[in-house]
Amino acid sequence: MTESVAQTTLSTHSSGLTGSVRVPGDKSISHRALMFGALAIGETRITGLLEGEDVLNTAKAMRALGASVEPKVAADGVVTWVVHGRGVGGLVEPDGVLDMGNSGTGARLLAGLLASHRMTAVMTGDASLRSRPMDRVVAPLGLMGARFESRAGNRLPLTVIGTGEPVPMVYESPVASAQVKSAVLLAGLQARGATTVVEPAATRDHTERMLRHFGAEVRSEPAADRPGAVAVTVVGQPELEGSDIVVPGDPSSAAFLVVAALVTTNSEVSLFNVGLNPHRTGLFETLKEMGADLTIQNEREEGGEPVGDLVVRSSKLKGVVVPASRAPSMIDEYPILAMAAACAEGETRMEGLGELRVKESDRLAAIADGLKACGVKVEIDGDTLGVSGCAGAVPGDAIAEVHLDHRIAMSFLVLGLASEQPIGIDDDDAIATSYPSFIADMTTLGANFKKIAASSRAPA
Ligand code: S3P
Repeated sequence: MTESVAQTTLSTHSSGLTGSVRVPGDKSISHRALMFGALAIGETRITGLLEGEDVLNTAKAMRALGASVEPKVAADGVVTWVVHGRGVGGLVEPDGVLDMGNSGTGARLLAGLLASHRMTAVMTGDASLRSRPMDRVVAPLGLMGARFESRAGNRLPLTVIGTGEPVPMVYESPVASAQVKSAVLLAGLQARGATTVVEPAATRDHTERMLRHFGAEVRSEPAADRPGAVAVTVVGQPELEGSDIVVPGDPSSAAFLVVAALVTTNSEVSLFNVGLNPHRTGLFETLKEMGADLTIQNEREEGGEPVGDLVVRSSKLKGVVVPASRAPSMIDEYPILAMAAACAEGETRMEGLGELRVKESDRLAAIADGLKACGVKVEIDGDTLGVSGCAGAVPGDAIAEVHLDHRIAMSFLVLGLASEQPIGIDDDDAIATSYPSFIADMTTLGANFKKIAASSRAPA
């Protein structure tokens, strides 16, 4: 019998990424489209859904809660996901454990749904998700009347004992988190009366936009006496009506291709149909400050979200200071920004990164350890990350540890394109959670990626 050897990917200096790519559907919007479709009466038809593992786990969970969720493939190959929902308050108790895989968004939004239905349900996830804090949703949902049983620190597996009659409330969230906001608003859908979440800084507003699209009354206004804070209110017990949803391309996935084109010499890449929700575009703003040749064309609105096409060309980048106030609009983009910073001239300081410690991995540590292994000077000072740029001469010659984190994996593969010696990652499986065609898309553009045995510690 021959033993199959686990493989991973090695990235080697490349010159000239060229061509165009349609990036996969937005992960945040895809989760919400399936969940809100499951809460609506009638049919919801979703095109452009991200078919990554995270979203497919949400689809499974919605089926387990009684909705019908099926992909339909048309003769021209276009896939439409068709959801038949059960109406607000109509989800049924699942007869098995709900496994949300790697997805914090899936788990936290689902907690809001389970907490507001009279049912007992158990939720779990992979080793990464089981280590992430759930207190941030358990606390507010508990105030609304749900009960929870869990391991220490409210980590998964988590048993939710939901209430059919959640109490409407005003919740002052201590963290700027769209997941927390959305979990409470989703529970608020079932409450008699209005539920308000006050977030300390504005975060992505996909939940608000899409709930309005399904017919709910949702208001957003600046919070009284708290500069920068936003109060978001949903009026409970609406009739949500099945709708058509067009999911734009994910700016957080586009980010990897954008930085790849910037740091690889002789590149020009076009990216079509990228979501440009203003609460998601902090990376593009930062890269422009660093000197990126990045233009947005064809700005338009699709399915209630702003979208556009991006054209990116190789650029000489310089270090900048990225203020903490920008973090909510680029919270998922710091790993790839750190790679751009490593290739830039001068130091880049990224402030206010505390939340990075509780993402799919401790991203502050994963970025810093990986960059140091690649010969880049890095400093962590509290919640600030400083990266000393190598002005286009990153040594490389390392295998970066991914810690089950898709964005860490893709980031180091991008850095390998511009480094003097190859950079590998210890595991490329995690990429499938958000961007299953990443390696294929990058290879088509001209990236020098090759498969190596996962056990090889030396890159070459
Ligand atoms: C998300 C919100 C963000 C982000 C995550 C997706 C969402 O998390 O990091 O990838 O879809 O609501 P937080 O709300 O924890 O900041």
